Parts: sequence; structure tokens; C-alpha cells
Amino acid sequence: MRRLKILMLAAEAAPLIKVGGLADVAGALPVALRKMGLDVRVMLPDNGLRVPAAYKARRLAGGVLAWDGRAERVTLRCLNVSGGLCYLVGGRPIARDGKVYGANMAGDLRKFVFFALAALRAAESLQFQPDVVHVHDAHPGAALYFLGTAGRVQRFWKFTAGVLTIHNLAYQFNDGAAALEAGGLAQCVDARIPVHARAGLLALGIAAADVVNTVSPSYAREIRRVEQGAGLQMLVRARGARVCGILNGLDGAVWNPATDAVLAAKFDVRRLARRRVNRDALRAELQLPAAAGPLFALVARLDWQKGLDLVLAVAPLLRVLGAQLVVLGSGSPEIAKQLRQLARAHPRAVAVRVGFDEALARRIYAGADVVLVPSRYEPCGLTQLIGMRYGAIPLVRATGGLADTVVDVNVDAVRGTGFVFSKYSAAALAAAVRRACKLFAERQAWQALQVRAMQADFSWKLPVQAYADLYARAVRIRRNGAAR
Ligand code: ADP
Ligand code: GLC
Repeated sequence: MRRLKILMLAAEAAPLIKVGGLADVAGALPVALRKMGLDVRVMLPDNGLRVPAAYKARRLAGGVLAWDGRAERVTLRCLNVSGGLCYLVGGRPIARDGKVYGANMAGDLRKFVFFALAALRAAESLQFQPDVVHVHDAHPGAALYFLGTAGRVQRFWKFTAGVLTIHNLAYQFNDGAAALEAGGLAQCVDARIPVHARAGLLALGIAAADVVNTVSPSYAREIRRVEQGAGLQMLVRARGARVCGILNGLDGAVWNPATDAVLAAKFDVRRLARRRVNRDALRAELQLPAAAGPLFALVARLDWQKGLDLVLAVAPLLRVLGAQLVVLGSGSPEIAKQLRQLARAHPRAVAVRVGFDEALARRIYAGADVVLVPSRYEPCGLTQLIGMRYGAIPLVRATGGLADTVVDVNVDAVRGTGFVFSKYSAAALAAAVRRACKLFAERQAWQALQVRAMQADFSWKLPVQAYADLYARAVRIRRNGAAR
């Protein structure tokens, strides 16, 4: 079979640009797909970031895009990242301020619509005619809208299929009318899209893509209902079987405690005792004293989604149980303030670090006993997977991908890999925390749990095959001209 050509568009991709899990997936999936023989090129917005020399950056011609009724130059930097080609696509509407997401929505809408259309123009300049344009989340959604409208009658694009992966339905980038108009795109009249989202980058992507997936089977079901549908549940339902769920993988080379250079002691299942060195070092780094109970950790964007209000409510109990807590996160200044207050009130039990710190995150996964993920909703979640790989037991709420990846050890003692609670309440979280502390005191049972968690397979092996199948399906649909 001919080698499929995939153009992947995202706002972030590790290791170049990372804010959250989207970057982990957009970084690792191309690597896994290339191993299967697909030709995958990744394009990211060029916000002026400094690129390390190792990526061998070179400038190429990106072409010209009609924008605001005039010819706007598209800049292009080509890099070698993780064994493949990655392009940084720039131009005047994309501020060179180093920011992935800016503070102002109107500016972001212009930046991302320009990025999406400029990326397609750059592909034409490169004579890279993809079989599939794979869009991650709302940001490059205008590319799918173009493919579904004007692109249908353009020679270069008419056979290119569009695939959308929804990582988070809540970030919709609505009110993009002015930006879409600047890019010369016609107003949308699709009655399946609620009126408030007709100029929304995510909604347009959902409606226009040949196939859509989310990052776990549970979340794919949840977004059909009003509670998690974020106002787009009817549109999602209208796409019927074209919307499916593919669980994220974890890149075992990127996340590996046996080779991780920033740890105090490298370890694996056979050298689990060495993990203690990491915990001691972590406590010292965080200025926490020794303690008999487990060290709980939470690494997350500080956002309403992540359930930090429950953690704030339960923190005093941790102290009573002789346990400790470390939180690493960046995002909402209000949540950061509350967390800092908590740490000040309980300096021997709670440590809080505000900011984005990849190395500290890794030391936390390697040194903490439990990774907390009490999210209100969670499309997939990666921190519970990273925790498992590093021997930190996940304690999660049963929602989205968390429900799909963690088996409660009190429900299934043989296959259990963590602790799961259902109701979104401090009492339910507290009960799970008590269960974790109880089992932690039983050394052998805890070790057996760690080994099971570390051996659970969340590699890209299965998901990458599912994406390859998804692409093949999208191409078939596009070629046959099936109705959306
Ligand atoms: P989301 O994508 O909703 O932010 P995920 O659990 O899918 O949540 O992914 C979060 C990713 O971002 C993980 O790789 C996690 O380690 C990382 N991360 C989140 N916050 C920080 C931070 N403050 N410092 C370093 N890494 C972080
Ligand atoms: C999103 C979700 C998270 C998911 C990540 C990667 O940001 O919030 O649950 O793991 O994308 O798909």
C-alpha cells in the first residue's frame, strides 16, 4: 500500500512547546506513527521560541496567504524533531511573544485561524499533499472548515481527508467570526451547530471533519450528554458513529524511571527499593520533614477542571493521617493563592510549587507514593499513567479516561492498580485517601500494587494502530464523498 501522508496541526507538541497533556500526545503520536511507516509532518505556530541547535532549524519559503484582504507572508522554520520533520509556521498575526496561549481571546482567535490556514498554504509551498490533515483540539479547527468548504473544489486539497481529535471539549474558541472572515472563509450556516458556536473553531472542526475522536472511550460517551457536552452534545450526537474514543498512550522512552536523567536514583520494578532515595530527595527539595504516612502528589494545570477545591478541603485530613501533600501547577492565580495559603498553614505537611517545571514533575512522579487526580472531568489524563509507570499509585475520580485506566484495588485485589472514587465530593475523596493510607501501611501489599501499576501497559502500541485505522477510514469517506 502507498505510504499515507499525514499533516498534523497542534498548538503544542513536546518536547518543543508544552503546557499540558496535548503536548505529550502531539509529541509522541507522530513518533509512533512513523514507526508504522506513515509519513507524518507536524506543524506548530511559531511564537518566536528559541530553538536549540540540536534541531537543525532552517528557513524555508512558506508562501503567501490572503488575510484581511491583502497578501500576508507565511514564515516557515523546518526542524528535525524526534526523528521526523516539524515545521514552525509564523506570520504577522502570530505574535512572537513566546506565549502558547495569550491573555486575550480575540488575539488568540486571529492567531490560530491564521496558523491553520497558513499551515495549509505552507504544505502547498512544500508540495506536501497530505492524505489526511489531523487537527488536535480547537486551535487549528479552521483548517478542517476550509477542507470541508473551499478546499473541496481546490485541486490540491479535494482528496485530503480531515480528522479531529478532541482533547478537551470545554475549550471551544467560539466567536471567531472576525478571524474567519479575515482568512476569507464563508460564514457557516450548518444547522447542526448551535447558533452561539457557529463561528467556533472546535464546533466547525467537529462538523467538518470526516472522522472525530476523543482521547478515551468513556469521554467519547460522556460528551454526548448534557453534563459533559459543554453545549455541543447535540452536534456530537449528530455526527453519530463518526465520533469514537481512542485512549492515549504514554511514550515509554520519554517517561522511563530506569533512564530518567533528573532523578536522584534511577529504578525499575526489579530495583524498587531505590525509589526511596527519590522520596527522601524530594522531601529534602520541598523542605518537608520525614513522615510515616504516604506522600501524595498532584501535578496539573491549576484549573477548575482538575478538582483542586476537593484537595483543599481534604488537606487537613492528610495531616491527621500522618500523610503529606505536594502540588506542582501553574494556571489560575486564584487557585495558586489558595494553595500557597494551605502550604503556609501546614508547612510540615503541604508543599506547593507554582510554575511549570518539567524536571520537578519527574522527581515528583519518582518520589511520591500516590498521584492524586480528583478531576471534575478528564478526557484522558496522563498524570495517572505517568504515576503508574514511576510506581506512584493513582488515586482518581471515575470520570473519562481516569475511569478507563485505573482499576480500584479494593474492588479487584488481583488486577487493581490504584484507588477510584465516584462522587465529586470532599467526603468521597477523603474516603479514598483513608483507603490509600491504610494499604500503604501494609508494606507487601503496597509493593505488589506498585509492581502491577508499573507493569500495566499504556504504551502507544494499541492506540497507534487505532489512529492508523481512523486515517484509513477518513480517506475512504473522503474519496467516496459520503455525507457528513
Ligand atoms: P491536561 O492535558 O489536562 O493538562 P494531562 O494529565 O493529560 O492533563 O497532562 C498533563 C501533562 O502536563 C503531564 O505531562 C504533566 O506532567 C504536565 N504538567 C502539568 N502541569 C505541570 C507543571 N506545572 N510542571 C510540569 N509539568 C506539568
Ligand atoms: C487534555 C485533557 C487531558 C488529556 C490531554 C491529552 O488537555 O484535559 O485529559 O489527557 O488533553 O489528550
